[in-house]
Amino acid sequence: MSGTRSSLLRSTPFRLALTFAFLFLLAFILSGAIVYQLMSASLARQLDQSIKETYSLIAATHAEGDEEDLVSTVRDHAQFSQDKDEIFSLTDRNGNRLAGDFTASSLPDGFSIFAADLPGVPPDTQYRAYSGTVGGNKLTVAFSLSETEDLERIVLMSFGWATLFITVLAIGGGAVLASRVQRRLDGIANTMVDVSHGRLDARIPLTGNGDDIDAVSAQVNSALDRLSALVDGMREVSANIAHDLKTPLNRLQMILESAADKTVSGEDVSTELTDARAESQQINSTFDALLRIAQIEAGARKARFVDLDVGPVVETIGEVYADVAEDDGKSLSTVIVPDTKWYVHGDRDLLMQMLANLVENALRHCPPGTAIELSVTRAGNHVLIHVRDNGPGIPAEERDKVFRRLYRLDASRTTPGSGLGLSLVKAVADLHGAAITLEDRNPGLGVTVSFPAVGTPVTSSF
Ligand SMILES: Nc1ncnc2c1ncn2[C@@H]1O[C@H](COP(=O)(O)OP(=O)(O)OP(=O)(O)O)[C@@H](O)[C@H]1O
Ligand SMILES: [Mg+2]
Repeated sequence: MSGTRSSLLRSTPFRLALTFAFLFLLAFILSGAIVYQLMSASLARQLDQSIKETYSLIAATHAEGDEEDLVSTVRDHAQFSQDKDEIFSLTDRNGNRLAGDFTASSLPDGFSIFAADLPGVPPDTQYRAYSGTVGGNKLTVAFSLSETEDLERIVLMSFGWATLFITVLAIGGGAVLASRVQRRLDGIANTMVDVSHGRLDARIPLTGNGDDIDAVSAQVNSALDRLSALVDGMREVSANIAHDLKTPLNRLQMILESAADKTVSGEDVSTELTDARAESQQINSTFDALLRIAQIEAGARKARFVDLDVGPVVETIGEVYADVAEDDGKSLSTVIVPDTKWYVHGDRDLLMQMLANLVENALRHCPPGTAIELSVTRAGNHVLIHVRDNGPGIPAEERDKVFRRLYRLDASRTTPGSGLGLSLVKAVADLHGAAITLEDRNPGLGVTVSFPAVGTPVTSSF
């Protein structure tokens, strides 16, 4: 569909309506023709039967050697039929008329059809006749065909009118229905044109009758909702990134300016250079992290997913960070039910990275003396990984925001980091179809990542 108005003839609904009207008419005409045939055959049969009955009735009045009764019966019958729709003829051996309305000596024996010109009837009126010999004379009984013809004409006429009526109704009704459907299709096309011109808030109007077009339109509308939410989200994210990167870039600029000033007066600039290098390294790693999150979100890593036991992954992270925690004046313990396997479908490296980020957060944002605990449990058909601490925790109103890119609590402004750790955790969890919950441990933060489990937990028993 190219534009807003497509011509009715090119519209699919109208073509469909026409096709159905045509097929319906064809069926109607065919069945009509069959009905007509059957009806005229039955009428002809009935007429022949009546003629034959009348003939037999008259023939029965003939007594051997005495034609008087026969002649008078024929005469009576002929007189009785005033309008001449039944006519009779009785002729002798030589073809002379003995009684009746006409002379039928030339008609063959049995049934025949002939045209007669009789006084008081229209010229060339068609008659159906039956002739036979009664006592050496020829008796003919003929009934007018005009009544049957009239009946057939009436049937044919009503059939013709019905055909015309159906054709007009089918085309007219088809056009009305089709234009209604067409208007709704145009509504969809117009909305898509609006969207392609950048108006992402355009939506297909729904009629609310719940038909298939409404169902498809509702689906398209919800896809558009999601699209515009994504575009809005991306816009916000890029604005945030631009805003948050301004601070380190400004700092870098100030360091370089002070270095430039010092060079003019011949002072030593090695501190500035070291600071500048640290600052640009920080900017670099922020970009690396942003790119990494974008890559994970793109989903290509999913092709490398395997069924793996998360127990050893959690244990490895626990071992790697235990010493770091101790050096920092904190403790890290790992609680795993021995000889149990916790299978999930995922990527080992990404899961390591996720757990490392969570443990690093507990190390970085909690004071010395904090106890950190890593554990794995199972609830229903989910494998749960917990990272818990008894540090300051995250206030309830901030728990959604910390997953945003570059978002950090005010309390953490002075600690190193770029606010991307939890964004990456969220990206990895999403890729694994896992849900993350943050809870208050009074004091402390409890992070639970809930993965769909693969199979039942395997406990090896010895
Ligand atoms: N275990 C925790 N205890 C208290 N606050 C936390 C904890 N984990 C995260 N936070 C808060 O959430 C914020 C966002 O965490 P996130 O990991 O995204 O960024 P970051 O740790 O500041 O920087 P980095 O990008 O280096 O990870 C942190 O700045 C901190 O304020
Ligand atoms: Mg972090």
